Amino acid sequence: MRVLIHPTPELAIDCVADLMIARLARQPDAVLGLATGGTMEAVYARLIAAHHAGRVSFAAARSFNLDEYVGLAPDHPCSYWTYMREHLFAQVDFAAGRTALPRGDAADPEAEAARYEAEIAVAGDISLQLLGLGSNGHIGFNEPTSSLSSLTRIKTLTHSTRAANARFFDRFDDVPRLAITMGIGTILRADEVLLLAYGAGKAEAAAAMIEGPLAAACPASALQLHRKVTVVLDEAAASRLALRDYYEAVHPKGRAEI
Ligand code: F6R
Repeated sequence: MRVLIHPTPELAIDCVADLMIARLARQPDAVLGLATGGTMEAVYARLIAAHHAGRVSFAAARSFNLDEYVGLAPDHPCSYWTYMREHLFAQVDFAAGRTALPRGDAADPEAEAARYEAEIAVAGDISLQLLGLGSNGHIGFNEPTSSLSSLTRIKTLTHSTRAANARFFDRFDDVPRLAITMGIGTILRADEVLLLAYGAGKAEAAAAMIEGPLAAACPASALQLHRKVTVVLDEAAASRLALRDYYEAVHPKGRAEI
C-alpha cells in the first residue's frame, strides 16, 4: 500500500486528481470506478478544470459508480445520479451511455444489484477505482461486518452513515435506510485503487485501514489484500498512524512518481 501524506487537504485533492489524469493519459479507455460524498466534490472540480484546460478527456473512458440509495430515482435531487450529473458528468466529455450507476428505483433491487455486478464484469472490471472512506471504515456502502469477498448487493446503512449523509437531505428521516453498493470483492478486482481521506474525522478509520488487522470490522482494511493501492491523506487524517514517519520518509510531503 502506497501511503501519501500531504500537508493540506488541497494538496491531497490535487494529488488524487493528478493521479487520475495520469491514468487516463496512459489509458484513455480506462473504466473508472467513481465515488460520491463530500470528499469527492473538490476532486471532480479539479477534473473539470483540467478538462476545460485541455489536460484530460473522458471521451474514450467509461465509468461505474460505487453505490446508489434504494428508492431514489435518477432524477431525485438527493440521488447519486443527480450528484454525478451536477458534480462531473454534465461538465466533461463522457460519451452518452458510458456512465453507469445502479438504479435505486428498480422494482427488484436485488436483481438490479446482480445486473450491475454483471455489467461491471462484462466491461472487463474497473481499471482505476476511486474511493472515499467512511469514518466507520466503510468503502462504498460496505458497512462494518460486510463480507470481505462480497459482490454488488443491498446493504442496510448504519445509523452513523445515515447521520453523516443527513446534510444532503432536508431531514434525517429522509435518508434512505438501504443502498445498492459494489461489494468489497468487486472493488478488489479493480486493477488499481486510489483512496482519498482528509480531516481528523477520518484519522481513526485511516489507521485501522492501513495498520489495523484485516477485519470485517473495518471494511477498508480489505485493501491490504490489493496489489496496487494508493492512499492519499492530509496530515489530520494521518495523525493516528503509528508508522507515519516511515510513510513520510518514503514519500516526503506526499510526493510520488506518477
Ligand atoms: C460514496 C461512498 C462512501 C463515501 C464515504 C465518505 O459513494 O462510496 O463510501 O466515500 O462515506 O463520504 P464523505 O466523503 O462524504 O466523507
